[in-house]
Amino acid sequence: MDTRVVKISRHRPQKGKLEEAAEIIRRGGLVAFPTETVYGLGANALDKKAIAGIFRAKGRPADDPLIVHIADPGDLHKLAKDLSERTRILAEKFWPGPLTMIVRKTGLVPGQATAGLGTVAVRMPKNRIALGLIRAAGVPIAAPSANLFGRPSPTAARHVLGDLDGFIDMILDGGSTEVGVESTVLDLTGKHPEILRPGGISVEDIRKVLYDTVRAGSGGKIAKAVMKKSPGMGYRHYAPKAMLILVEGEEAGVAGKISELASKYAVEGKSVGIMASKETRRRYGKAGDVSVLGSRKNFSTIARNLFKIIRDFDEKGVEIILAEGFPEEGLGVAVMNRLRRAARRIIRV
Ligand code: TXA
Ligand code: MG
Repeated sequence: MDTRVVKISRHRPQKGKLEEAAEIIRRGGLVAFPTETVYGLGANALDKKAIAGIFRAKGRPADDPLIVHIADPGDLHKLAKDLSERTRILAEKFWPGPLTMIVRKTGLVPGQATAGLGTVAVRMPKNRIALGLIRAAGVPIAAPSANLFGRPSPTAARHVLGDLDGFIDMILDGGSTEVGVESTVLDLTGKHPEILRPGGISVEDIRKVLYDTVRAGSGGKIAKAVMKKSPGMGYRHYAPKAMLILVEGEEAGVAGKISELASKYAVEGKSVGIMASKETRRRYGKAGDVSVLGSRKNFSTIARNLFKIIRDFDEKGVEIILAEGFPEEGLGVAVMNRLRRAARRIIRV
C-alpha cells in the first residue's frame, strides 16, 4: 500500500483535504492525524474491520484498548452510559484537551475497540485538523498513538512515516504537536476518579475542579489494580533503539553521575547522547552528544521535546542515551512516567 502524506494547515485545515481523509475513514481505511498531544492512527470507531486494521498496522496486542475521539462533547452520550456529574464537569472544563475519560460503554462501541472491556476511553482533542476530520467523517474515530507498538509516540508526521510507511493509507501532516506527551487517562467508573496514565492534564488541575479524592499512582511502577483496568499499560513502551539510562535524584548529583557515565562509555568507544536541561548542559563536556529538552522551570517545553529528542538520537544511531530525571510536579509526572518506561536502567543518586 502507498502511504500518502498530505500537508494541511493547522489553523485553517483545507476542507478538500479533510474530506479526502474522511472518505478513507468512512470506507474502513487508516489515516494518521495530529492531535495536540501526539499523532494518532485513526479508523472508524464503529467499524470492527477498520479497528482490526489499526492493531495490524501497529503490531499492537489486541488486549490493549483504544481511545475513541469525538468532536462534540454531546457525542459522549452515544458512546457512554451511566455518566456521573463529575464526567460532565470534567468535559466542560478540559475538552477539547488532553484528558481521556474512561466510562461505561454503550452497545454502539464494538468490543474490538475496547479489548472486550465494558468501558470505553473517550476524548475530544484540541486540534482543528483532528476535529475537522472527525466531523467530516461523521463517525467517532478510534486512534492510538501512530507509532509501531513499543516505540516512542510520534510528535511529527515524519515520525509516523518512519514507523508506518506502506501500512496505512494517509498521513495528514499538520506540523509538530504542542503538548508532546499523550493525554491523561482518568478512570471515572469507580468510587473515586483514578489516573491510569499521567499526561497532558496534571492531577493538580483535575483536583482543582473536582473537590474530590483523585487517586494517582506513582509516575513509574504500574499498580496491579491499574493493570486490571487497563491491560495495555503493562507493556514496555516508548523504547528507543539505543539503551536509555535514566538518572534520578537531585540536580547536581544527576549531572555528576551522567558526566561520569558519559566518559566511561566514550572510553569504551560507544556513541553517547545526553538529554540535558538548560540549567545543566554546561556540566557535560564533549563526552556525548548533548540535546537540551528545555528548562527545568518549564516542564511543558520538556514534554514537547521529549519523544522528538529520543527519536533524533535513534536516527543518529546513538548507542547509549543518558537521561536526566526531573521533579514530579505538574507535567513532570507525565515526563517521568514516559522516561521510566523507556529506560532499560534507572540509577538513583
Ligand atoms: O494523547 C493521546 O491519548 C493519544 C492521542 C492520539 O489521542 N492517544 C494515545 O493512545 O496515547 P494509546 O492507544 O497509545 O494509549 C491509550 C491508553 C492505553 O494505555 C490504553 O491501555 C488506555 O489508554 N485505555 C484505552 N481504553 C481503556 C479502557 N477502556 N480502560 C482502561 N484503559 C484504557
Ligand atoms: Mg501509545
